[in-house]
Amino acid sequence: MSNSKNHITKDGIRIHEKNDFLGMAKAGRIAADILDEVGDAIVPGIKTLEIDSIIHDMVVKSGATSATVGYKGYKHSSCISINHVVCHGIPGPKTLNSGDILNIDVTVIVEGWYGDSSRMYCAGNISKKSERLIAVTHDALFKGIEQVKPGNTFGDIGFAIQNYAEANGMSVVRDFCGHGLGRVFHAPPNVLHYGVAGSGPVLEEGMFFTIEPMINLGKPDTKVLNDGWTAVTRDKSLSSQFEHSVGVTSKGFEIFTLSPKNLFFNY
Ligand code: MF3
Ligand code: CO
Ligand code: CO
Repeated sequence: MSNSKNHITKDGIRIHEKNDFLGMAKAGRIAADILDEVGDAIVPGIKTLEIDSIIHDMVVKSGATSATVGYKGYKHSSCISINHVVCHGIPGPKTLNSGDILNIDVTVIVEGWYGDSSRMYCAGNISKKSERLIAVTHDALFKGIEQVKPGNTFGDIGFAIQNYAEANGMSVVRDFCGHGLGRVFHAPPNVLHYGVAGSGPVLEEGMFFTIEPMINLGKPDTKVLNDGWTAVTRDKSLSSQFEHSVGVTSKGFEIFTLSPKNLFFNY
């Protein structure tokens, strides 16, 4: 039963077939290429709307579609979240200052498959504490990814991330989570970035989902601004995030959004 293709588990999680991994790899590759290429534009003085417009052009040029344009009324091809912005920062007239850290999150649709990834960038030189936050967030994501294999649970992923972030004196945002994806943007399960080892649904070959921990230097609490999107830390502390789209294979995981130029984490 659990090996039959293309069914939905009792937790509502779609099990995909072998061929579907190829579709996800193609979509993930285009998201990763875009995040590789946009790096050159991240300099003090650029407006976040200009960054988004570069991303929009790259999405069009690649033959993909942006999953975020028109999504619940969102109008842009990226989310750009600077400093204490946790996620869903809206591109606009704000210019980058030297020392800013920012997350750029891009989701593309390619032949019906969704590739969703985000990374951290910095404008000019950043502080040591910003560097540490970014490194811990990156490594926390990979602690989570290392748990991805059949038989482990979603709680194992959350626990590994939380354990690592908190051991480094940082906190895990609870108000946003990763998600199943595939031929849809957001599907079950909610992939929590905290939790109890051994809890939650069991991972099975063919599940596709994102892991996208948001880690804060201060407290985990967030609030959404009046624009209805921008999430910020309540205590104004710096926040950081990395996101990969992954699939469960028979032995472990495939990362669909790996950087072809190895630029995912470049500090
Ligand atoms: N890409 C985000 C995620 O990781 C979702 C952005 S939705 C938007 O799930 F509308 F804010 F763009
Ligand atoms: Co996502
Ligand atoms: Co995303």
